[in-house]
Amino acid sequence: MGEKRILCVGLVCLDIINVVERYPEEDTDTRCLSQRWQRGGNASNSCTVLSLLGAPCAFMGSLAPGHIADFIMSDFSKRNIDASNVRWQTLGDTPCACCLVNISNGARTVTLYDTNLPDVTANDFQNVDLTQYKWMHWEGRNADEQIKMIHKVNDYNNICPTDQRITISVEIEKEREDLYQLFQYGELVFVSKDVARHLGYNSSAEAVAGLYPRVKSGAYLVCAWAEQGADALGPDGRVLHSPSFPPETIVDTLGAGDTFNASVIYALSKGQTMEEAITFGCRIAGKKCGVQGYDGIVSGDLHSFCHE
Ligand code: ADP
Ligand code: FRU
Repeated sequence: MGEKRILCVGLVCLDIINVVERYPEEDTDTRCLSQRWQRGGNASNSCTVLSLLGAPCAFMGSLAPGHIADFIMSDFSKRNIDASNVRWQTLGDTPCACCLVNISNGARTVTLYDTNLPDVTANDFQNVDLTQYKWMHWEGRNADEQIKMIHKVNDYNNICPTDQRITISVEIEKEREDLYQLFQYGELVFVSKDVARHLGYNSSAEAVAGLYPRVKSGAYLVCAWAEQGADALGPDGRVLHSPSFPPETIVDTLGAGDTFNASVIYALSKGQTMEEAITFGCRIAGKKCGVQGYDGIVSGDLHSFCHE
């Protein structure tokens, strides 16, 4: 068997992206600079970045058959992302987001429609062959079901040889109470600045310190904070910081957080320390902010950073 894969479980959607010179006034009719379709969704974007970094990876989430799903599946295949765990739903629509990307500051404004397609369940997860994976990452969505999936991986980890264990990470990005139970799961927890702010924290350092009691014993908590970089806290009680690495011009921040998460997971899976991993995450996420989409974010020097 080849190198084991990293599985990301969560949303895939179509992003219809309009790149604009400035954010429009409501009820006006303007031209955009360019428009594109892009495969989106946090877990799906993280797969894009893992694949660009050279990590064998796989996506698990729901799709509904149709033109949009065809576009998404062909993009998974182009990017060399295993989509065999996609759950084809018979009811509901493939999620779709309208995204405005303001080229003058990179800001992204998203309206997402993902309300009528069922998420993958613990039952669907029964079909996943755990022996193929070294890492599994859950984008917090239907937390109750996701927790059942994580329990299954924990059971597997308890009986398999140490070197075959699957590392578990979760992301808590949306300000939703039901997602907060995910803090207790996984060796690595990503919490977004939106959630951190909502819970009363004003920086990533404050957030990791304040929220650390919620994670399970021995886990790492990581929080990214746009141009301020990112912080991490682990069992040794030391708050680790990385600055951001802004590109010359910031043009597109859509998926910066997903890029950061994927790069941190990648660096850790290659044996880097947490301090190195969040720095690597900020470097690659910074590159992403300097380009539209994801092509060109992994240059030779950044790739070799993780192989030195
Ligand atoms: P998101 O809002 O997409 O979830 P964040 O804004 O927290 O993600 O950003 C994730 C990472 O992307 C940050 O840690 C940083 O490294 C990088 N990043 C995002 N925005 C900027 C920016 N304006 N300048 C430099 N780096 C940025
Ligand atoms: C970026 C992203 C987009 C998607 C939106 C959904 O982080 O995953 O691709 O439209 O967030 O919330």
